[in-house]
Amino acid sequence: MSLKVNKRVKDVEGSSTLAITARANELKSQGHDVVNFGAGEPDFDTPEPIKQAAIKAIQEGFTKYTPSIGTVKLREAISQKFKKENYLDYSVKQIAVSCGAKHTIFNIIQVLADDGDEVLIPAPYWVSYPEMVKMAGAVSKFIPTTAKNNLKITAKQLEASITSKTKILILNSPSNPTGMVYNKKELEAIADICVKHKIYVISDEIYEKLIYESNQYCSFASLGKEVYDLTITVNGMSKSYAMTGWRIGYCGASEEIIGFINRYQDHSTSNPTSISQMAALAALQQPEDAIIFMRNEFKKRRDIMMAAIDKMPGISYVKPEGAFYLFADFSKYGVSFDLAKRILNDVNVAIIPGEGFGAPGFMRFSFATSAERIQEGMKRISEWLSHNKIK
Ligand SMILES: Cc1ncc(COP(=O)(O)O)c(C=O)c1O
Repeated sequence: MSLKVNKRVKDVEGSSTLAITARANELKSQGHDVVNFGAGEPDFDTPEPIKQAAIKAIQEGFTKYTPSIGTVKLREAISQKFKKENYLDYSVKQIAVSCGAKHTIFNIIQVLADDGDEVLIPAPYWVSYPEMVKMAGAVSKFIPTTAKNNLKITAKQLEASITSKTKILILNSPSNPTGMVYNKKELEAIADICVKHKIYVISDEIYEKLIYESNQYCSFASLGKEVYDLTITVNGMSKSYAMTGWRIGYCGASEEIIGFINRYQDHSTSNPTSISQMAALAALQQPEDAIIFMRNEFKKRRDIMMAAIDKMPGISYVKPEGAFYLFADFSKYGVSFDLAKRILNDVNVAIIPGEGFGAPGFMRFSFATSAERIQEGMKRISEWLSHNKIK
């Protein structure tokens, strides 16, 4: 009997990075020395005080259900974080904690997007957004960007993409995969259009603390009362605190939206792990030394990576200002998925092809790996390119 699955599920695609990662692991298990530029997570360990807080939680028996959207203590700490760092007033009732920012975004889209609603997504985009939109029965509409505009959308483009069905814009700054960071002026122009057309904005700020240029970070919802009312601000512990496995993400929004997320979580996951919540609380309360250390390291590695790519003929990129990815245009060398496979097989370097990010021809290089490995990987790619001339 053929399996008949739900219509919202049947077109959901698997991870485009999987094929490369699987092949990289296969090569590694055969004893090959693979340089991995595929990582979507910091290579640093979770800082010790955070681990200790989790151990203490277990020892003290903090191992039971908590409120579905997180403990009051954790939500209070998040509320303070929003106020202090983002100039945003979200009370405890306006905050929901979920099992990673991915889960947070999934819930928001489930709550807001209805069948046939259009969700605007600037391309290149994080791979999961369009799949989440599909799972809600809504439709993704991509807004393409160009290197000329630093891979960012403009207010004009945004307005031209809006129809009577447009419900949500997903904004991600700093961006995965491009590393682009929108400045205040650019955000203000986008905000004006969203307010004019009453469009909700999911502002994915997960890479907020990983910015390498002097520009001050600007949270979208801080741009005014009307924008604040339309925005759901998403953040999480994964990237800034090297806590990907702990699965803690959160958002700030109106009490009404949080109320629906609460109900949704009540009947699906219930609370994120109690122990991870204690770890997250400790992370938010500790000084930022570990974050500063990681950010400085990432910046050094980014610069090493850029210096190496600058020497490669026919390859261009827009300087990443944040996150830990460099998104390079390899289109002169062919189709990125095929190229990634060949580079992996020939010189054992894993890079993620752009197709899954809505950017065929591009390659995503993660610099969440050591400076030595970056140098080694770049040397191999450079040699490979010299044997595989531009078409
Ligand atoms: C842009 C972006 N948003 C959200 C997430 C989700 O992070 P997590 O679910 O680990 O909190 C990621 C992770 O790769 C990401 O790159």
